[in-house]
Amino acid sequence: MALKNPFAKAAFLSRALLCHFTVIALAATAPVVVAQKVQLSVDASKPGVKIDRNLFGQFAEHLGHGIYEGIWVGPESAIPNTRGIRNGVVAALRALKVPNVRWPGGCFADEYHWRKGIGPQRAATLNPNWGGVIETNSFGTHEFMDFLDQIGAEAYVSVNVGSGTPQEAAEWLEYLTTEQPTTLAKERAANGHPGPYKVGYLGIGNESWDCGGNMTPDYYLSQLKIYSRFVRNYNPGQQGKQQMLKIAVGPGGGEPRWTEWTEAIMKAYQHHQWSWDINGLSMHNYTVVKWPPAFASTGFGETEYAQILKSTLDMDGLITKHSAIMDTYDPQKKVALVVDEWGAWYAPLPGSNPGFLVQQNSLRDAVLAALNLNIFARHADRVRMANIAQMINVLQAMILTDKEKMVLTPTYYVFKMYVPFQDATFVPITFDSGTYAHGEITLPRVDAIAAKDTIGKVWLAITNIDPNQAAEIEVSLTGVSAKSATGETLTAPRVNSVNTFDAPSTVVPKPVSAKAAGGKLTMKLEPKSVTVISVEQ
Ligand code: AHR
Repeated sequence: MALKNPFAKAAFLSRALLCHFTVIALAATAPVVVAQKVQLSVDASKPGVKIDRNLFGQFAEHLGHGIYEGIWVGPESAIPNTRGIRNGVVAALRALKVPNVRWPGGCFADEYHWRKGIGPQRAATLNPNWGGVIETNSFGTHEFMDFLDQIGAEAYVSVNVGSGTPQEAAEWLEYLTTEQPTTLAKERAANGHPGPYKVGYLGIGNESWDCGGNMTPDYYLSQLKIYSRFVRNYNPGQQGKQQMLKIAVGPGGGEPRWTEWTEAIMKAYQHHQWSWDINGLSMHNYTVVKWPPAFASTGFGETEYAQILKSTLDMDGLITKHSAIMDTYDPQKKVALVVDEWGAWYAPLPGSNPGFLVQQNSLRDAVLAALNLNIFARHADRVRMANIAQMINVLQAMILTDKEKMVLTPTYYVFKMYVPFQDATFVPITFDSGTYAHGEITLPRVDAIAAKDTIGKVWLAITNIDPNQAAEIEVSLTGVSAKSATGETLTAPRVNSVNTFDAPSTVVPKPVSAKAAGGKLTMKLEPKSVTVISVEQ
């Protein structure tokens, strides 16, 4: 998992905002003082790029309690479930309108053999990557597809390139998607699903430069061509424009080995023959600062808040770097950059199995999530899919569970507040972000995006990074006459505030509204807050 880029120092220079680095000397030490003024200009008359709903995708790996206990409790469980899948988790995820779920890994995918996870008799195998525990295989293909059906998401299936074969992967896709009465289709029917499944996205390997087999770019490329050619989707409803999109392994950071990787794949793609194709190039980038992960997910102070947020903004430079290489070989942007693993990776919670990647989720993570979603939106012409790691109980999760208990995290609420941005069109927004300084760390104080949803309503997402000072915002609107604006804001008493099973509502959104007058909106943003509002005309 050498994907982290701890020393990257890419400056945060969004194409959409003009940062004005005036140091506010008191910001580092003062508690709440006078609100700072920020002016934003939104031009809703200009058509923008679509913010693909797939940017809000999730990742669920067979890792710790991500699948087992998090999603799957089994039909005999006392925890309310539908065919073994937790009802409470499904209800919470439905509210996020999860567009797609990447499964079964991760590093796990390159050791996964799908046949062990179908039929009445499931093989007990091992999960060597993640704690060496027994993998019961009780959650397999049918359970995953049932889960997707229950939450209303599409399948992003990662096939095993590292320790599998093209034949194994091809047969899995035939099993999943053919309508013809082949032996595999009959087996699928006997296992409870006569009709073909839809598989929207196919990941061809995972981190093949590392846990996926330590391949060179050239070696991987030869595998990619074979898998792309033979791992077919036969679903009659997925031919032509509805075809399954194939995603190649891409970079894990900005170091030369990864720029070379992107270069090799994209160069080959440029003049690729009819017999193979890709639609996406994966990129993994965790916010980790130090490797192995050492930052605590609870009980930290303002210094760690500022350090983590500074590091997370490196995502912008990394996307810019790899997009530039992709532009050279694919100027029409046919291949999407798919950030299919991102999020904060902290030290394991004391007392937890270190192989299970258990961490808490605080207000800091909510701010981090908003900043990354904003970066993706600003790069939406190239970044058309992203998957936060991971959905439940692992790394920067949406939901934490403990037996029958479950709690929604601050990150969950950010994803919920951002639902209106799914498939909305980006609206240009300019502003002087100001500066939040803490010790030697300098960050933009405010970040924002705007978008028009599918029914023409304008939405704004504004984050006040500054944990000490409120921000008075004044938004000038062109192309929309505002009568009012309402929405929600997410903040909490401290940067390290968390939701727990006993206190699940410490970090939850509350309603807010802006004043509208003379074509302008004004409102006050609380320190360390994420706010989403819609403009009523
Ligand atoms: O998300 C945890 C792990 O991080 C994934 O299995 C792997 O792809 C990455 O290294």
